[in-house]
Amino acid sequence: MDPMYICYNSMWVLITITVDYMEGEITSDKCLYIGIDAGMYKTSVCSSEGKKFSERSLVAFSSENGNDLEKVLAGKDALELEDGKKVELFNGELKSEENTDACRRFLKHVLEKNEVVEKNTYAIIGVPANADKAYKKKLLELANEVFTGAMLVDELFCAAYKNNLPDRSIIVDIGYSKTDICIIDSEVPRENDCLRLSCAGKDIDSEIVKLVNDRWPDSTISEELAREWKEKYGALDPGSDTCVVDVPLENGHVQESIIEELQLACEFVVTDIVSGITRILSDHEPELREKLRNNIHILGGTSNLDGIDSFIENELKVLGGGKVFSDIDPEYGISEGALEIAKNMPADFWNQLTTEKDTEEMI
Ligand SMILES: Nc1ncnc2c1ncn2[C@@H]1O[C@H](COP(=O)(O)OP(=O)(O)OP(=O)(O)O)[C@@H](O)[C@H]1O
Ligand SMILES: [Mg+2]
Repeated sequence: MDPMYICYNSMWVLITITVDYMEGEITSDKCLYIGIDAGMYKTSVCSSEGKKFSERSLVAFSSENGNDLEKVLAGKDALELEDGKKVELFNGELKSEENTDACRRFLKHVLEKNEVVEKNTYAIIGVPANADKAYKKKLLELANEVFTGAMLVDELFCAAYKNNLPDRSIIVDIGYSKTDICIIDSEVPRENDCLRLSCAGKDIDSEIVKLVNDRWPDSTISEELAREWKEKYGALDPGSDTCVVDVPLENGHVQESIIEELQLACEFVVTDIVSGITRILSDHEPELREKLRNNIHILGGTSNLDGIDSFIENELKVLGGGKVFSDIDPEYGISEGALEIAKNMPADFWNQLTTEKDTEEMI
């Protein structure tokens, strides 16, 4: 593995993890390594014993039959709960003790449900590089309570590390709340190497709601329903089939194809993402730009949209062209990378971390 840069607390640090150095140290049977992608929409987990699972980043607490003991419901179960307290997680803020506690209980519950032991377990959590410092500190503190040792790593670095992305490529993570566009390079990163856009999956959902309401002013469509349709039929291919859905109306429903609305909503958001890519390209000298534009790697849930790669390539044609690869697992790309880093960290590193519990330095 070539040397790469890793972002701690908005400072980039070179890490050189060589397989030779690690041999004999990483294969300890007694340790379990975990990689986590703590996204605002979903939390995905990979473990060194081969487990992989993902949950919506949502937790709910219900008191059954007046019983004081609260039941913890995570992900889909929480979503389906009709009454009870619901807390959305990993939105970049851990200001109250209540939120921190909800996060802690969610993590513990999800691990327990999937029979992941917490003892002698070392975890790396992928987080956005530019996440709030206080948030990262709190998240790391609670991760250190849940696991034997934990560390936070820039989530895009995790994905690039696992997929061994070529030097001078662009990684584009299109998630729920945000899109991050970042240049992967072994040179010291520059100021304008990363760009955060606030447009992503949630904006496609709200655009679908808007377009459906324009067509049927008496529709009662929710963002959750729009999201379901998008995940099932969302596409940027002009030649896509029709998709007939039940549009709920104030009085009854209507069955119609909403393919046009879906396509327009997807294009509306992805066009902005292409503008972000061209902005980052234009900020670099022509020689580097050529390499970068032909090495664009997309990931994140929204990269599942059918035809997104060729749509981006087509949009880039007028600006000199480009090549888009969908070669990173949209769901597990970050957590697999985090696991890989956790496994490859020298045992000494984890020892030092757990003895010092130096939470200031590792974020
Ligand atoms: N098959 C699909 N087609 C289109 N969109 C999808 C599909 N599957 C998931 N998505 C969308 O991907 C988004 C979630 O992406 P992802 O899981 O990468 O987000 P996250 O990492 O939890 O959030 P963030 O990075 O914004 O904090 C949601 O908007 C979801 O609707
Ligand atoms: Mg994400």
